[in-house]
Amino acid sequence: DTPTLDLRDDILRLKREKNAVILAHNYQIPEIQDIADYVGDSLGLAYKAKETDADVIAFCGVHFMAETAKIVNPGKTVVLPDKDAGCSLEESCPADELAEFLETHKEKNYYVIAYINCSAGVKALCDVICTSGNAVRIVEQAPQDRPILFVPDQNLGSWVMEQTGRKMDLWQGACYVHVEFTRNSIRTIQEEYPHAAVVAHPECPYAVRILADEVCSTEKMIDFCRNCEKDDIIVATESGMLHRLRKEVPNKNLIPGPTDKCSCADCHFMKMNTLEKLHACLENLSPTVEMPEEVRKRAEAPLLRMLEQSK
Ligand code: 13P
Ligand code: SF4
Repeated sequence: DTPTLDLRDDILRLKREKNAVILAHNYQIPEIQDIADYVGDSLGLAYKAKETDADVIAFCGVHFMAETAKIVNPGKTVVLPDKDAGCSLEESCPADELAEFLETHKEKNYYVIAYINCSAGVKALCDVICTSGNAVRIVEQAPQDRPILFVPDQNLGSWVMEQTGRKMDLWQGACYVHVEFTRNSIRTIQEEYPHAAVVAHPECPYAVRILADEVCSTEKMIDFCRNCEKDDIIVATESGMLHRLRKEVPNKNLIPGPTDKCSCADCHFMKMNTLEKLHACLENLSPTVEMPEEVRKRAEAPLLRMLEQSK
């Protein structure tokens, strides 16, 4: 497949010419993961974006992730292959609705914790950000004398409540991909592989989480699979993760968790990025991520607090 090879070579050429770094999330298509300088979860990507000395960040993930890179790097050019790659969690919590809710419940004096899967506008309204990789630590460091409002993922929120014993009020958002896993779909694959371990993302519903041996962020799944005593492991998260896992842990039989409708779960937002679009965004330095400086500044404080608190 020569065209793909040419495209790859040309992406690497553009990367050198523009002094760019390519960051990719674990759910990206294999071709993008394989050409990236760094592949990881939202937390790892936020740290990498903060540390880089490249002039251009080509962010292969979804919009809120590229936006996070821009928030901590206002002076850099942040491009993304497809600016319409959104996230159902981000959509479930518009900034104006959150602002209105906080205004209506002013007397509560909420300490607002936002899962990183939200817009810059929502980040600007909260006290601290978390990712699935550090949510427990962040909640443990919340002030004891204030009620917590956790936005936008109710599943991650309830999992953190189970882990910490800390009560929180939960925004009723969900990831449309992870809620497709059901007790029935995981039970069915367990019957096929009766000795398999199960690892699940905390965005999965309670009925799925309780069937799992481990619930964790995508990056932590690598350690779990590496150290797991079982040879068969069912992975209940987005399908892109299987490529990363099979590279890192080649000696295990890694089985995509099925949904009731499909043999694996794809996030159509994550899959909007292609090598062609990555090439185009590097060549044209467009589309870029932009936001009003006032919003960026207000969103930066809770992000930096997260990076500090999760060290
Ligand atoms: P991680 O931070 O665990 O990679 O999760 C990101 C995400 O979008 C999960 O759906
Ligand atoms: Fe958002 Fe879910 Fe896609 Fe992750 S998998 S980007 S949470 S829609």
